[in-house]
Amino acid sequence: MVTMLSGFGLSKFFHLSPDQVAFSIYNRLNKSDTNFEKIEHNGAYINFFLDRKREASTLISDIINNDSYGKNNAGNKKTIIVELSSPNIAKPMSMGHLRSTMIGESLSRIANENGYKTIKINHLGDWGTQFGLMIEAYKLWGNKDIIEQNPVDELVKLYVRINKEAETNPELSEAGRSWFKKLEDGDPEARELWKWFKNVSLREFNKVYQRLGVTFDSMNGESFYQDKMSVIIDLLKNKGILTESRGAQIVDLPSLLPAYNLPVSIILRSDGATQYATRDLATAFYRQTTYHFDKCLYVVGAEQKEYFKQIKAILKLAGFNWSDDMEHIYFGLITFNGKKMSTRKGNVVKLEQVLDSAHKLAKNQIAEKNPNLSNSDKVAEQVGTGAVIFNDLMNDRTLSIDFDLDQIVKFEGDTGPYVQYTHVRAVSILRKSSIKIDINDAIKLLDNDSWAVVSKLSVYPDIVKRAWILREPSIIAKYLLNLAHEFNSYYSKVHILVEDKQLSSRLALVDAVAIVLKKGLELLDVQAPDQM
Ligand code: ARG
Repeated sequence: MVTMLSGFGLSKFFHLSPDQVAFSIYNRLNKSDTNFEKIEHNGAYINFFLDRKREASTLISDIINNDSYGKNNAGNKKTIIVELSSPNIAKPMSMGHLRSTMIGESLSRIANENGYKTIKINHLGDWGTQFGLMIEAYKLWGNKDIIEQNPVDELVKLYVRINKEAETNPELSEAGRSWFKKLEDGDPEARELWKWFKNVSLREFNKVYQRLGVTFDSMNGESFYQDKMSVIIDLLKNKGILTESRGAQIVDLPSLLPAYNLPVSIILRSDGATQYATRDLATAFYRQTTYHFDKCLYVVGAEQKEYFKQIKAILKLAGFNWSDDMEHIYFGLITFNGKKMSTRKGNVVKLEQVLDSAHKLAKNQIAEKNPNLSNSDKVAEQVGTGAVIFNDLMNDRTLSIDFDLDQIVKFEGDTGPYVQYTHVRAVSILRKSSIKIDINDAIKLLDNDSWAVVSKLSVYPDIVKRAWILREPSIIAKYLLNLAHEFNSYYSKVHILVEDKQLSSRLALVDAVAIVLKKGLELLDVQAPDQM
């Protein structure tokens, strides 16, 4: 690699010719005691030749010796709240919630790598008028035994049915509203049913979280704020931000903040029932006073963009400048063959089924490529789930993605399994080699093929920084694909296991690649098996 310095830019300034400038600088350089292999003067240019052996040695021993390669302390242990997943109880976890879960989980890991402390909160959708409607549906048509056998599916059936019938029968909506009111007022029957819906739902959600390897520091969802909303309502009242409109309490954003171009936000309905927004105001206030966050990230779909602008605007009006530290980390839709999903209309693809299908596809490929693999079922789970997660994270998060399971589980192409397979290739080379890598032995690699891999490895710490700054896990995913490509092209050109003087150096390079691939996959919450 050559770094050039030219005399052109400076020549005007010094009233000298570019050649003279370059020559004069060259003469003043201390050329003996540098990290460059050599420095040459050539006309108006000075060429610096990097000492590849020295660069590669420093980098590779850093990667192999130092477990913290890629980490930095920029965050100074400040607290980042990552709100993620947040499915609604009595509904299946859909592919839509997968995006929130995985982007949130990955961002949290990336924040940790950048020196922040994170608190992951699953803001469960476990409160709201829809539970009034659920209770009404259950009272009308529900059967306890049937629901116990297959809870979420059966609850969804009830929910779909009551929504459909309510279109022509307004009494049902009215009954739903009054059940929710009872729930908020602590009516024992309403409470009991609601608690039961929540328990059976969580049982199903937890199975999925376990498969995805995702955990939470808090499961405080919407219901947690039942008794914490009055504080914020009073606050808004005292600041004169709440106004009455046809019996409801609203924040009239169009007249309070005309330039923001946001709609009215309803805080209390005319019957006194609280709203989704009321709970979010209480949530933000609670999080700030409890955790004193540096940033609070809301990983929620792009369809709630305007809604989060409203929430932030209201808090800002109330004088809470920390609302500037709330960030809506939005993401695009997942479609299946171009179709959107909706629980109310009943066309939802369940995440669990997707993971099962991915597992099966991965298992078929393993059976073909590596029929003797001993723990193939476990590996198929790592590969199948890894494929789904990687696919979710590899594109800019704001883009919508169409989901094609057959493609994403393939071992070739831009897929998670491709990166996992490259890692397997690297560790299996290391397994096959008879010699032990001596990392104190200086690296002796100068050729362009190795250098291309070394350069890719060297940028990893910057990739980790950029992924955090842009709140973009895809930066890690794309990097891993590039590193895997580079390594595979190296592998196809170079005979790694030949017994010559550079064998140990090549193995050290392979080891460094395996380490960085694994670290990067970990930031995406994708596992890296040693065989597949
Ligand atoms: N439960 C909501 C949904 O499934 C997402 C919650 C988003 N978070 C929030 N603080 N409002 O659409």
